[in-house]
Amino acid sequence: MSESNLVLRPAVEGDVEAVLRFWLVAGENTDRHDTADGVRRLIARDPEALVIAELDGRMVGTLIAGWDGWRCHLYRLAVDPEARRRGVARTLLAAAEERFAELGGLRSDAMVINENVLAHQAWTALGYRQQNHASRWVKPLTGGHQTG
Ligand SMILES: CC(C)(COP(=O)(O)OP(=O)(O)OC[C@H]1O[C@@H](n2cnc3c(N)ncnc32)[C@H](O)[C@@H]1OP(=O)(O)O)[C@@H](O)C(=O)NCCC(=O)NCCS
Repeated sequence: MSESNLVLRPAVEGDVEAVLRFWLVAGENTDRHDTADGVRRLIARDPEALVIAELDGRMVGTLIAGWDGWRCHLYRLAVDPEARRRGVARTLLAAAEERFAELGGLRSDAMVINENVLAHQAWTALGYRQQNHASRWVKPLTGGHQTG
C-alpha cells in the first residue's frame, strides 16, 4: 500500500446515500440503477461485504466482497478518479481476498465489462485472468432491484 493513511472499514447504513453518490462518479458504469434499499439489504445480510476505503476521512474507494457460503464474488470496485494509481484497488482486493480465505473460499471472481480496458489492466496486474470458456446468462426477475 502506497498510502499509509488509507483506512478500510465496512459500510454501515448511514453510508448508503454517500456510497450511491460515489458510484456515480467513480464506478464502472454510471447509468446503473442501484438503489438505497438494495445497498441496505446487502449491509443487513452481510455487514462485512461492502468495504469503504477512506483517505484522510474521505471516501476514495469501494468494493463488495460477496460471499454466499460457496463462492466469492467481487463487484463495485471503484476508486475516486483523483485517487487512482495509488494502490487503493490493490489494498481493497487484498482485504477482500483475506476475508474470502478466512471464510473458506477457494476462488475469487469478478464481472468485468468487455470494453473496460482500464479495468482489465488492473485485474490482470492484481492476479486475475479472464475466462473465455463461459459467459454470463441472465434473466430479470419480476420486481427485482439490482441490475449489476
Ligand atoms: C480500475 C480501478 C478500480 C483501479 O483502481 P486503482 O486504485 O487506481 O488501482 P491501483 O492503484 O491499486 O492499481 C493496481 C495496479 O493495476 C494496474 N492499473 C491500475 N490502473 C491502471 C491504468 N489506468 N493503466 C494501466 N494499469 C493500471 C497497475 O498495474 C497498478 O499497479 P501499479 O500502479 O503499481 O502499476 C479504477 O481505475 C476505477 O475505479 N476505475 C473505474 C471503475 C472500474 O472500472 N472498476 C472496475 C470494475 S470491474
